[in-house]
Amino acid sequence: MTIFAVETSCDETSAAVIRDGKVFSSTVSSQIKLHAEYGGVVPELAAREHLRNLIPVAQAALREADVKPDQLDAIAATQGPGLAIALLVGFKAAQAMAFALRKPFIGINHHEAHLYSPWIGKFEQFQPNISLIASGGHTMLVFVESELKYRVLGGTIDDAAGECFDKTGKMMGLAYPAGPIIDKLATEGNSRAYKFPRPLLFEKNDDFSFSGLKTSVRYFIRDHPEVLQDRRALADLCASVQQAIVDVLGFKTFRAAERLGVKCMTVSGGVACNSRLQQYFNTDPWFGWKVRFADKKFCTDNAAMIGILAERKLRVNVPLPSFDEEIKPGWVLA
Ligand code: KG4
Ligand code: ZN
Repeated sequence: MTIFAVETSCDETSAAVIRDGKVFSSTVSSQIKLHAEYGGVVPELAAREHLRNLIPVAQAALREADVKPDQLDAIAATQGPGLAIALLVGFKAAQAMAFALRKPFIGINHHEAHLYSPWIGKFEQFQPNISLIASGGHTMLVFVESELKYRVLGGTIDDAAGECFDKTGKMMGLAYPAGPIIDKLATEGNSRAYKFPRPLLFEKNDDFSFSGLKTSVRYFIRDHPEVLQDRRALADLCASVQQAIVDVLGFKTFRAAERLGVKCMTVSGGVACNSRLQQYFNTDPWFGWKVRFADKKFCTDNAAMIGILAERKLRVNVPLPSFDEEIKPGWVLA
């Protein structure tokens, strides 16, 4: 089965060709530089950029896979959740393409697709796991009981983990997105130099909260502005903030896995690129547990994960939506 997939839920314009569970091509045009000067994604600009880039990105994906449109068996696109006007561009274009080619069309939940990204390009069989999705827009823990069967355990009640990296970084005077910069600076710093809260760490739920941590960083910088003038102290601050975020994400994921008797954990979303988070999951005391991080290119938003999930759904004959189906910006994974 050959699937063409499109993803435009936020600030990445992406297209991919998937055949029999393999990624034949995956092209991504990132808008990070465009939004950097605003310190976050501006929906209107994102949508315009998707409009500009979608056709070249789609053509590149087809060319790279050496596939002609009439060789496709189905077309998929992210239907939600995401920024409405950004989603609209990719979803409607893909729907129109399917209509014109008279091919089946399927809308995909972006979060559900993230659950599959850690398995892309891996040789192992998909297995039950606890999946942590952490990016600039979402932070959630999902119990993946089997393929296409999930239970959302918890999510953030305020800011997403990536948002916490980006916003605390902004307070430190770092560029957007600050996550990768904090990660890099933190390698020179001491993660125990400054003490920050680990919100909801020992609460008996699988939810996350990062706004309190963000506020305590704000007060810390207000009271110790000199820290920002000294590279060593700034590195310590980065390492300390990063460690607080990583401790919460890591501990709550392992605790959920332990409680549910699942010895496999997967991690995806932009924050999965964080080196300290990877270290946390891959070292003692968790030795022996199976951990799968998505490959870097599939951590961030991409159409390959949309196509991979679409193919799995089509293989079990899920009902296809009608051609006048609309985007679902607030689509919650049940
Ligand atoms: O998945 P993604 O590309 O986009 C969405 O938010 O949907 O994730 C981007 C987020 C940003 O908040 C960015 O700061 C964060 O992922 N990020 C990182 C790292 N690389 C990207 N955060 C911490 N450490 C990193 N190395
Ligand atoms: Zn995402």
